[in-house]
Amino acid sequence: MADRGTNNITDTPVYPASPGKIGVFDSGYGGLTILKGIRKVLPQYDYLYLGDNARAPYGTRSFELVYQFTLDAVRELFSRGCHLVILACNTASAKALRSIQQNDLPHLDPDRRVLGVIRPTVEHLGQTGAKHVGIVATPGTVVSHSYTLEITKLFPEMHVTEQGCPMWVPLIENNESSGPGADYFVHKYLKELFIRDSKIDSLVLGCTHYPLMIEKIRQYTPAGVAIIAQGEIVGESLRNYLLRHPEMEAKCSRGGSVEYLTTENPEKFNSLAGLFMGETVSAGHLCISHSG
Ligand code: DGL
Repeated sequence: MADRGTNNITDTPVYPASPGKIGVFDSGYGGLTILKGIRKVLPQYDYLYLGDNARAPYGTRSFELVYQFTLDAVRELFSRGCHLVILACNTASAKALRSIQQNDLPHLDPDRRVLGVIRPTVEHLGQTGAKHVGIVATPGTVVSHSYTLEITKLFPEMHVTEQGCPMWVPLIENNESSGPGADYFVHKYLKELFIRDSKIDSLVLGCTHYPLMIEKIRQYTPAGVAIIAQGEIVGESLRNYLLRHPEMEAKCSRGGSVEYLTTENPEKFNSLAGLFMGETVSAGHLCISHSG
């Protein structure tokens, strides 16, 4: 690995300068749905996936902890050579992205970039003709009101209803998303949402974990409602970003490889991640360190 350390004079970190992998970060398995979508659109780049499975779920944690955990991950990915990091997690995008972009990047490295998943999803909604949008997400994302704020800013005529689904991520992280417990909780939250707005025409899966149980979600969603998953939306948005920023594109290494890291047991990660990605996954273990 290339140089890692600090600049003694200013105490700012010095990260590898050569082209690097695109970092994709999530609290656990959910970001794999984004990685899959991005690779479908942009297979030519190298990717480094980091799942903080040991500390998932993030969705029920405080703003401060989600921000701290996300910053730890971003620093780790920068130190492993990533110039561009995608927060493939709505909760981290809602609670940490702005602070990292505005307060941390200028000190860490003003030439590196961290992007989220909420803005691309909202921009996509504008192209779909959606009028009544239901957002299912973690309690953390819902409490931040990030979706309502972004949608109201861009499309004031859209009607938005957000529904927290606290049990969905634990079900997925524990490989219970096709069992009867999942039926109970998927039905419960969707019923609550559609009682609050029976005119919903588009359902946004506003947590990157949720496509991992999309069949169950479809089962309890009224017919005719469009279900919107974020993977390819984020992929297309990244493609546009790299076209508009050739200086960043030049810093993304090309080779089509994917490296996986997890803060949990790699064997456990490999079996579920491999099933979902449809290929053998051989993750490395990472003991993530707190940033100072
Ligand atoms: N997959 C993440 C999201 O999109 C977070 C899930 C969690 O850890 O609660 O919000």
